[in-house]
Amino acid sequence: MILEQFKQDVNLGLSQTPKHIPSKYFYDKRGDELFVQIMNMPEYYLTRSEMEIFQQQSADIISSFDIQKGEEIEVVELGAGDGTKTIHLLFELIRARVTFKYIPIDISSNALIGLEHRMKEEIPELAINSLHGDYFQMLSDLKKSPNRKIILFLGSNIGNMSDEQATSFIASLSKNLNKGDKIVLGVDLIKEKEVVLPAYNDAAGITRDFNLNLLERMNRELHANFDLNSFVHDPEYHESEGIAKSFLKSTKKQTVEIGAINKQFEFEENERIHTEISRKYNDSILKKIIDQSPLSVKHRFTDHKSWFGDYIIDRV
Ligand SMILES: C[S@@+](CC[C@H](N)C(=O)[O-])C[C@H]1O[C@@H](n2cnc3c(N)ncnc32)[C@H](O)[C@@H]1O
Repeated sequence: MILEQFKQDVNLGLSQTPKHIPSKYFYDKRGDELFVQIMNMPEYYLTRSEMEIFQQQSADIISSFDIQKGEEIEVVELGAGDGTKTIHLLFELIRARVTFKYIPIDISSNALIGLEHRMKEEIPELAINSLHGDYFQMLSDLKKSPNRKIILFLGSNIGNMSDEQATSFIASLSKNLNKGDKIVLGVDLIKEKEVVLPAYNDAAGITRDFNLNLLERMNRELHANFDLNSFVHDPEYHESEGIAKSFLKSTKKQTVEIGAINKQFEFEENERIHTEISRKYNDSILKKIIDQSPLSVKHRFTDHKSWFGDYIIDRV
């Protein structure tokens, strides 16, 4: 099913001008491995900053959930990845003797297998029920259980959406929540280019490999014939709008065939495929995104440099 969707999205995205491919397709086995390397790069401040928040402020974050004595809750994580930050929150919930189930959702089965393995080793008593799939399509399942939910959407995942997409995503998320449920939304905060751009264009070339892996994935899974030597990683960041974008740029005029959809695509010299958007936030941008939904910001936790923010948002 994911392969069919992949074919459709690639066909649609490469048929449009400008060309684009959804960033969720970065995360195959190789993409997951590269993303773990990205999180450990000196330039990639996002994970370190959010990690600091979870290491140092998990107890305060939990207090903001208003958990009642004897209450059972569900901690649902959208795009859980390897759960390195979440684990601090889970430890703290266990320390506070909260009864809860952890429900990570991820499109990458590989990420989920690794996550389950890790959680079983580090927190054997954890009740975990992982779900494989696209979180956009799984939101309606959220309402099925009567327990109060804490939705974790960390790592600036929402930054991979345009403002329109983020607004409609938050609206459909809030429709599937009940009064009293909460969202923990991790966002990268707007800051200067000298800090942001290297996170998407590191000296060791890991972000380049991560971006180019999308072409390799299409070669592998969709029988495409992208020549990796004639596309380059091309990131940019505009501080005034607070948006970083990554592209794959064709270094020459060329034709690429995608066997699985039986189609050829023309590229001009310097023509780009838009592969990722990384929106940076501030309070007023977030307010605009959630304004039309029955949601209200309760708290904002930040790291000591105020580079990253985890907002606690109430479903009112
Ligand atoms: C940037 S990583 C962040 C992981 C983790 N949340 C963190 O903060 O470290 C994004 C994760 O979301 C998953 N993902 C991306 N798009 C998704 C989608 N539409 N549905 C489900 N999972 C998705 C990826 O497979 C990946 O594991």
